[in-house]
Amino acid sequence: MRLLVTGGAGFIGSNFCHYLVGQTDSEVTVLDKLTYAASRESLQGLPSERVSLVVGDICDADLVDRLVDEHDAVVHYAAESHNDNSLSDPSPFIQTNIVGTFTILEAVRKHGVRLHHVSTDEVYGDLELDDPDRFCETTPYNPSSPYSASKAGSDHLVRAWVRSFGVQATLSNCSNNYGPWQHVEKFIPRQITNVIDGRRPKLYGAGLNVRDWIHADDHSSAVWTILTKGEIGQTYLIGADGEQNNLEVIRMILTLMGQPDDAFDHVTDRAGHDLRYAIDSSRLRRELGWRPVYRDFASGLERTIAWYREHEDWWRGHKDSVESAYASKGQ
Ligand code: NAD
Ligand code: TYD
Repeated sequence: MRLLVTGGAGFIGSNFCHYLVGQTDSEVTVLDKLTYAASRESLQGLPSERVSLVVGDICDADLVDRLVDEHDAVVHYAAESHNDNSLSDPSPFIQTNIVGTFTILEAVRKHGVRLHHVSTDEVYGDLELDDPDRFCETTPYNPSSPYSASKAGSDHLVRAWVRSFGVQATLSNCSNNYGPWQHVEKFIPRQITNVIDGRRPKLYGAGLNVRDWIHADDHSSAVWTILTKGEIGQTYLIGADGEQNNLEVIRMILTLMGQPDDAFDHVTDRAGHDLRYAIDSSRLRRELGWRPVYRDFASGLERTIAWYREHEDWWRGHKDSVESAYASKGQ
């Protein structure tokens, strides 16, 4: 299969490219604008005869039209992805996440090319801590932040293009990912690299907010499963039963890195901070037979800590500017 992977130089997209090279015979073209969140180095070591990079914008209709026509399927990861940034400046989120997805939909419609659209569980809003329910495919959309609202908008566009124009698309909404090649602005890499640097981890508010963690490799295998076996027009939720509150995660990171588990700071909370996300992925497991490999969060976290220790060159260049931007907001 010749695959066009948008956003393949970002965190989850680059993990997916490594997965494809290791586990499948696909040839991959990455289309990536190389924003601040991307890194060419995340694709290092992949064979050039199987993976190539086109630097460009998913909002560039001519470029997208030409590339889509040359491929059998598109896996669409490209997005502005950080909630905190969407609170400071929503504009690129609207442009990339909504206009960019529209641009891809028009190209796959014209050329009859298969699409898998990658989205987030944050489109469903949040749950109470004691809610016995988890998100499932029929949970109503109720996004809280400019980021999640823009992803919700993109999901609605994909569904409308399936129904109105017969576009051959599937969708997935996944929970919070962790693993290698994640930008240091995000929660887990930020705290790991803080500890490496002798800075104290930063916990928003009381830290009781719950996220449902999944290793990026498990997200990749789920996307591949849906791309190859999923039913057109359907949405699949991806999750690995990894609920943890932020306080527990910070304590785990500190302990795994040999520090006292109270050596962190409480900082200004995020505006509109979603309380809890939790995924019921039983449809994906039951209908397509997918299973996560990383079932033990602590050991996945330990491997991730080791990766950041061993790949300081990869993240070092971003660290100071990320920390000064957070410090200016009291975070
Ligand atoms: P990321 O920010 O690490 O990577 C995004 C990539 O998209 C970057 O390489 C960036 O350069 C590229 N990009 C941004 N705007 C572009 C544009 N206009 N044209 C071309 N490329 C552009 O994000 P991520 O965490 O890897 O997330 C990837 C996808 O997965 C997103 O759609 C996100 O909503 C979704 N998702 C993320 C998570 C998570 O925990 N990070 C969970 C579920 C779903
Ligand atoms: P993040 O990685 O930004 O993902 P998301 O907003 O998509 O869930 O944040 C994960 C959780 O960690 C979220 O509840 C916010 C919190 N958080 C902190 O407590 N401290 C931090 O320094 C960051 C970046 C996030």
